[in-house]
Amino acid sequence: MAEYLNRIGAGKILIDRTPLTYDWIPNTLVGRDGALSQMASIFSQISSPSISCKTVITGPVGSGKTVLTQVFCNDLKRHLDGKRRIVHTHINCRNHPSGSQVLQQIALSLDERHPERGLSPGEVIQSIRRFLNARETHMLLVLDEVDVMIRRDSSDIIYRLLRIDEGKNESGTISIILVSQDPSLLKLFEPAIISRLGASNMLNLGAYSESELRAIALQRSEASCLKGSVGDEVISKIANYAASTGDARMAIELLEAAVIRAEGHGRSNVLIKDVKPSEARNAALEPNLVDDLPDHQKLILLGICRRLKKEEAITSGDALKLYHVICEEFGRDPRGYTTFWKHMKSLEISGMIESRTDSATKGRGRTQHITMANMAPGVLEARLSGILSVE
Ligand SMILES: Nc1ncnc2c1ncn2[C@@H]1O[C@H](COP(=O)(O)OP(=O)(O)OP(=O)(O)O)[C@@H](O)[C@H]1O
Ligand SMILES: [Mg+2]
Repeated sequence: MAEYLNRIGAGKILIDRTPLTYDWIPNTLVGRDGALSQMASIFSQISSPSISCKTVITGPVGSGKTVLTQVFCNDLKRHLDGKRRIVHTHINCRNHPSGSQVLQQIALSLDERHPERGLSPGEVIQSIRRFLNARETHMLLVLDEVDVMIRRDSSDIIYRLLRIDEGKNESGTISIILVSQDPSLLKLFEPAIISRLGASNMLNLGAYSESELRAIALQRSEASCLKGSVGDEVISKIANYAASTGDARMAIELLEAAVIRAEGHGRSNVLIKDVKPSEARNAALEPNLVDDLPDHQKLILLGICRRLKKEEAITSGDALKLYHVICEEFGRDPRGYTTFWKHMKSLEISGMIESRTDSATKGRGRTQHITMANMAPGVLEARLSGILSVE
């Protein structure tokens, strides 16, 4: 019997991996009471059927913009239970970057049989309005990473959504929450939109402090690991590394990587040395460096990032396979083997990836193990997907 298989499901540390995933929504948000209260004041009239509210949330990567809107909308829905019927629709514009895709997603969130084609934006908006009004339902609409759509397609759809009730003798159909990393988001809007959004409805979240990151890491470890398996000193080290960016996602990634490493060694507790600075994803290189890479280097790097989000290293063979998958996804023709290698070399020279040849595979072709110490794969992946889908 293969002894090493005993490790599977051993769970010496981890009892539930879900809280280490990005989609897990904690019961309480660390350090965001002020932001939640501000949201509550912006939405203070929302229980009245004729009222709709608007807000714009900005903040750096991993400052909790997305999770803040999720917690707020869930809480609000509960709070209005029995007073006003609410449907909460969250759309990430990075995944649906064109204005018509966004509208389509809104319509689909209400009615999954909404026809895919043939309707103008105005008609889709009116069908959304009719649907909501017929059911006396108010929509809380979150347009996350909204700058992606605006840069691609202007802010026309937002303007139309803000005016959905105009000339209809109706009001209070949709509340809109716009979310973006871009602190100068407002500059992308026409004055007519800015005045409709209202200057007092802006919320800017700051990057997290070290103590907030400590509380976030602790919250995740308590929810996912056996009691006592992750000590204070481990949490402190994670918070210390993540404080260089103030990014909550980095704290969670570091914790997950440390837990996996400790379990991989068969230990029942995480040690300080499991928190690896090299994988602290200290982002020694700025993510925007990838913006100017040649197209096929972007495609190769995207494949590598996707894998490195989950694993410590990827072989060059897998990188090549993933490159082909990504090319297909984005409708590009993959370049030949030699060009692929040239691009890999350039990525290495620019410090974006690192490679080592495993001694075991020496002499058996060019299998290399690729890692990424200077950049955060999760952050890069989002950036690359965004750029590639717009191009
Ligand atoms: N205050 C908080 N308390 C607990 N968990 C948090 C908090 N803020 C963020 N997180 C967690 O950190 C991760 C990143 O947060 P989130 O996705 O909301 O950041 P973001 O600001 O939307 O980032 P991006 O700009 O990349 O979209 C998520 O898993 C989220 O649940
Ligand atoms: Mg987000």
